[in-house]
Amino acid sequence: MPNHLKRVLVFSGDDASPEAVLPSLEILKALKLPIEFVEPELDEKLLLAGKVPPLLKNQIDGADAVLFGAASRKALPILLYLRWGLKNYANLRPVRHIPGAQSPLKNPERIDYVMVRENLEGLYPGREGNLAELVEMLPNVQDATGQRVGDLSTHGKFALRVITEEGTRRIAEFGVEIAKKRKEQGYSGKVSCFTKLNMLKESDGLFQAIVQEVVLKAGLPYDHFIVDDAARRLVQSPEQFDVIVTPNLYGDVLSDVGAATIGGLGLAPSGCYGGSVPYFEPVHGTAPDLAGKNVINPTATLLSSGLMLEYLGFGKEAQRLEAAIYKTYHEGKVLPLDQGGRAKTTEFCQEIRKIL
Ligand code: IPM
Ligand code: MN
Repeated sequence: MPNHLKRVLVFSGDDASPEAVLPSLEILKALKLPIEFVEPELDEKLLLAGKVPPLLKNQIDGADAVLFGAASRKALPILLYLRWGLKNYANLRPVRHIPGAQSPLKNPERIDYVMVRENLEGLYPGREGNLAELVEMLPNVQDATGQRVGDLSTHGKFALRVITEEGTRRIAEFGVEIAKKRKEQGYSGKVSCFTKLNMLKESDGLFQAIVQEVVLKAGLPYDHFIVDDAARRLVQSPEQFDVIVTPNLYGDVLSDVGAATIGGLGLAPSGCYGGSVPYFEPVHGTAPDLAGKNVINPTATLLSSGLMLEYLGFGKEAQRLEAAIYKTYHEGKVLPLDQGGRAKTTEFCQEIRKIL
């Protein structure tokens, strides 16, 4: 095998997700690039029991990139491996208006920023337990009012939220790299940090302080917003943002808000980097209500594929793919249902292929 041949593992995901991934994959194959696309055989029983077989892990480890659908059941343990197993800590979610798409905002052409979501820490992956045990372990931890954990009712659950220096520094540095690239392309290169440090002084305070330090050291503009205020700004004045760096759960929630402002989850791509093998997936979930109908909007998957092509060194083809998507929206003749059109998923993909 020539060593320039890239290997991409494809996981089509659960529910309606394969209906977006498989026709997108046909488009990618039709580009005739030196990429080998492999759809691994899945041991559904093992996966449903939450286990990723070692052989599958090896396959993933040996790939150049992973194209991932959306996960709810059998694909979920694979997603967990892609994130925490491979340590893909940086979740890049571009939010950009596509002319012709059905944004609910006035003047949507002002929406063009990227969300850099910390992908491993915070409240993920959910270190939870019984409050009684926490009280036993940490009776003297106090909240802002001076109330000790030991004073709490012991009937209930807790969730730990972890912000590490190392984890924050690396996401801040990733954000800065993105901002520098954007600056070269004529954007402001400003980094905005979103936290809730008015309530979470220690953990979000640390996150904010490190992001600020890293950004200012790089000589880039910086600002910070409390996350609820930031949510409003994403809707009311999205033009003020260029690069956003934020902890995990805020990024999860706000990337859906961002997607809504450009016309919905059908349009929002993401790429997850930092580990040995990056993975690329739409921001949306598995859309069980759409399963079997051939109507899911594959744009998010196609744009994610574009991010993947760029990562693999096929920047020109990534641009061609993006241009074909933009052309289709601009013309407005063949659009998916969620964008006010009548095209089935496969018809939309057919149109993209025609343009390419
Ligand atoms: C996302 C999804 C995931 C997340 C789920 C499927 C675990 O909502 O990628 O945004 O919360 O990170
Ligand atoms: Mn999400």
